[in-house]
Amino acid sequence: MTLRDGHQSLLATRMRTADMASIAAEMNKAGFYSIEAWGGATFDVATRFLNEDPWERLRLLKKLIPDTPLQMLLRGQNLVGYRHYADDVVTAFVSHAARLGIDVFRIFDALNDERNLKTALDAVKSCGKQAQLCICYSLTGPKMGGAIYNLDYYVNKALVLQNMGADSLCIKDMAGLIAPDDAYRLIKALKRELRIQVQLHTHYTSGMASMSYLKAIEAGVDVVDTALAPFALRSSQPAIEPLVAALQGTPRDTGLDLSQLVRLGQHLESIGARYRQFLDTTRLAVIDTSVLVHQIPGGMLTNLVAQLREAGVLDRIDEVYKELPRVRKELGTPPLVTPISQIVGVQAVQNVLFGRYKMVSTQLQDYVYGLYGRPPGPIDPDVQKTVLKNYKRGQTPITGRPADLLEPELAGAEQATRGIARDIGDVLTYILFPTTGLHFLKQKYGLETAEAKA
Ligand code: CO
Repeated sequence: MTLRDGHQSLLATRMRTADMASIAAEMNKAGFYSIEAWGGATFDVATRFLNEDPWERLRLLKKLIPDTPLQMLLRGQNLVGYRHYADDVVTAFVSHAARLGIDVFRIFDALNDERNLKTALDAVKSCGKQAQLCICYSLTGPKMGGAIYNLDYYVNKALVLQNMGADSLCIKDMAGLIAPDDAYRLIKALKRELRIQVQLHTHYTSGMASMSYLKAIEAGVDVVDTALAPFALRSSQPAIEPLVAALQGTPRDTGLDLSQLVRLGQHLESIGARYRQFLDTTRLAVIDTSVLVHQIPGGMLTNLVAQLREAGVLDRIDEVYKELPRVRKELGTPPLVTPISQIVGVQAVQNVLFGRYKMVSTQLQDYVYGLYGRPPGPIDPDVQKTVLKNYKRGQTPITGRPADLLEPELAGAEQATRGIARDIGDVLTYILFPTTGLHFLKQKYGLETAEAKA
């Protein structure tokens, strides 16, 4: 996870291609199950802030990492962007990424709506690559169970994904919420019910992650996600080195060479100084204990506090803590994952400041209308009516797959980038990020200077 989630979680996704390249060949030899090195926020940040071509990064990494499968994180129909793209774009993106070197596509949807995974899944299968489908891990209460996110929810969802054709399943716990005993129960049940491999992804955020991995390993999990020590812990993954040491001589011995891992870590330390400014050093603690109390993902909490501080009403945070679960329930208890977590959080704050649903965002209207997909629970009918009252698309939500409403986009984008884009990768960069992506392409081909961007 070091080359994607590690620096995305700790260093604002700022790691440069040259620094990845300096360690890639050594990582290739370490014997990892796979190396996640692409996707997620890396695409956006590379073109927006680093003036680097993500497709070139992929080409280079594949050359340096020929033996270990390369993995990427794909946000279902959102690809590596922030909205739903038309099916022709999804298919073109997946086949280009597969052609340039991605072996394992890890695909998730923020609402766990499997219909949003379907087009990407089919595209991955037709390229002959591994399609790993995810369930976003979320909670109804402090532990697994309750009305929505109980053991049956996860097992039933996993069976749906397996029947769709998933090659493997990942429980994706982006907020680091999974407790050790829940990890054991969940993995045990999944291993009993599924025939495909089960992988666990969590973050160290709450401090429980290493304990949860150990319990998941006891329960028979096939793969767990880790990062090399300098890019581990805090809001990133558990570190690989202590886990490898802990499992030595047990039936789950990883067989990985600890001294080789330590050497890789030393190399990362030598380049890490360059990125230190991006590390959050505001607190002494490397864990976020408020996650344990409120189950609110760390990033979401930061946004809430910023929003309240800006309005000069930080003292009303306790009211927001009370309002948040209520809003979430009324909205169908969605997982608190980007971008849904922002929509829910902003609404909870507005409800406290201006009265319940007196002010609603367009994003909330889109969500209630069904443009993000189907939430795990029902949306409160009164809230639905209030939110959609003056909505431009109508008052009756859609029930179908959101992307069915989208017209093909590829041909139009090819037209719009004529004379600029030189291959399908360039066209996709433009579709994903029409403003910053176009600036990037113009700079790449010397049609615009870096100054012009500012
Ligand atoms: Co993650």
